[in-house]
Amino acid sequence: MVQAVRGMRDVLPAEARRWRLVESAIRKVLDGYAYEELYLPVLEFTELFARGVGEATDIVEKEMYSLEDRNGDSLSLRPEGTASCVRALVENGLLFNQTQRVFYSGPMFRYEKPQRGRYRQFNQVGAEAFGFAGPDIDAELIALCADVWERLGITRHVRLELNTLGSAGARQAYRDALVAYLTPYRNELDPDSQRRLESNPLRILDSKNDRTQKLLEHAPVLQDFVDADAREHFDGLQVLLEGRGIEFVLNPRLVRGLDYYTHTVFEWITEDLGSQGTICGGGRYDGLVERLGGRATPACGFSIGVDRTQLLHEVVHQDEPAGAAQVYVCWMHDGLLGAAFSVAGELREADAAVRVHMGGGALKKQLKRADDCGAEWAIILGDDEVGNDTVTIKHLVDGEQKTVARSELVTAIG
Ligand code: HAM
Repeated sequence: MVQAVRGMRDVLPAEARRWRLVESAIRKVLDGYAYEELYLPVLEFTELFARGVGEATDIVEKEMYSLEDRNGDSLSLRPEGTASCVRALVENGLLFNQTQRVFYSGPMFRYEKPQRGRYRQFNQVGAEAFGFAGPDIDAELIALCADVWERLGITRHVRLELNTLGSAGARQAYRDALVAYLTPYRNELDPDSQRRLESNPLRILDSKNDRTQKLLEHAPVLQDFVDADAREHFDGLQVLLEGRGIEFVLNPRLVRGLDYYTHTVFEWITEDLGSQGTICGGGRYDGLVERLGGRATPACGFSIGVDRTQLLHEVVHQDEPAGAAQVYVCWMHDGLLGAAFSVAGELREADAAVRVHMGGGALKKQLKRADDCGAEWAIILGDDEVGNDTVTIKHLVDGEQKTVARSELVTAIG
């Protein structure tokens, strides 16, 4: 049998129900903040990510699914959505003298080592805001996430970690200082960090290696390089978050794995999913629009990892989300199938999710199917009901059964 590709996950019906619940909560909140949806391609030129996410990041260096298309162009499955979103807005002239607050959702692809909560195809919902330079939009985006957690009932299971990387200039100065400090210890660093010393020294701060971490204890700290403007931005953000009652932890080691960030960076982290505990990450990326060919535009955003958020929801709320059908229509013989379709149609018009029994069989078997699919109501149609223009309805939770006039059906099970 041909099996699924490693790291590509099937989301089967039971899990998909929770997935929809999570995604619709995120969408509800985004609608409430009046963010507008974009649909972006899954395939882009590889160069977009090399320039956008950064040549020296793990994502671009070793995690992309890249291919050459028939005319020799190098294309990649998108590893994230921000670069595509910027490209789309610039290409379509939507950043010209205007602000934008948008979101997108869909699969992203990274060739990572698969484990629970880490897949090679995973889903994100990302929100991005363009044209706002102040910390007010950073606070709005963070508050939006907080509202999503609230709606999903997981607020007490996540914490917000916050840091500032300062301006691009400050970051460069810090980078130089870090390299100067670490170079004499080069041979004592773990192999990944040795490699990063040239390519992406800030990521060394994330190293899980104890010896490297020990060396970092006396390394220069980014915060000392953060300029006054950036400090003011970051202080402003903290005041806004405090004003909204959003708790946060300052983490001076938080640098994030993508190169485009400046100023604010943040992550929402849970302890309930083991090592894959970051359910959402984001920050400000004021230089990216220009780097991708647009006019300099301040920008900020985040992406929620839907797979991890769904896993966390399952850990916190173990109860099964409602099944697909609310109503199951049973019928006593083939001659009544037409009546069954007509009853089902009426209920669907009233927005009920209705499954009509298929394949005949005894009523007992039909009622068992009704139970199995999680329906709350069964409708039983026999000759008497159809003859008298009535329907028998059975509440499957408490077992009560009664016969009502057909005209009262929608109200009776409403
Ligand atoms: P990111 O931190 O790379 O940021 O990804 C955001 C979220 O996607 C993570 O917090 C995690 O929940 C989820 N995620 C990432 N990789 C995987 C994986 N292999 N399996 C399952 N879930 C995963 C970005 O992608 C940025 N574009 C966020 C952003 C938007 N920054 C500004 N705007």
